[in-house]
Amino acid sequence: METYNPKIVCFSCNFGWGYLSDAETIGPTILNWIPVVCSGKIDTSHILKAFRAGADGVMILGCSEGHCHFQDGNYQTRKKVFLIHKVLDAFGIEPERLTMELDIDPEGRKIPQLIAQMQHHLSGLGPVKQV
Ligand code: FES
Repeated sequence: METYNPKIVCFSCNFGWGYLSDAETIGPTILNWIPVVCSGKIDTSHILKAFRAGADGVMILGCSEGHCHFQDGNYQTRKKVFLIHKVLDAFGIEPERLTMELDIDPEGRKIPQLIAQMQHHLSGLGPVKQV
């Protein structure tokens, strides 16, 4: 029997996450890691495209409250996540397949840990059911 290995796409804000680290250190632990200039630059279409492309989960890492370099990008994205949770739920897809973490982690030490936690959780859910 084949082992289920959930696919996760991780968008992370460059200002808050891993800017003191290099991609060679963190990158290999995350197959689909997409650093962005601000979590506010992540559009709803990017998230839905990741799911359509076969992601089992999407993780967004943004700056902590009050620390977004673009004023309120993290709040705007949090609103998008809230609405996308409703859409996923309406299609019978578990909303927790999309997560958002607001924090500051310059060395990016938490990134592999968060990915591992999400992979563990998604393993329990299984693949996304096609609608
Ligand atoms: Fe990090 Fe906006 S600059 S979330």
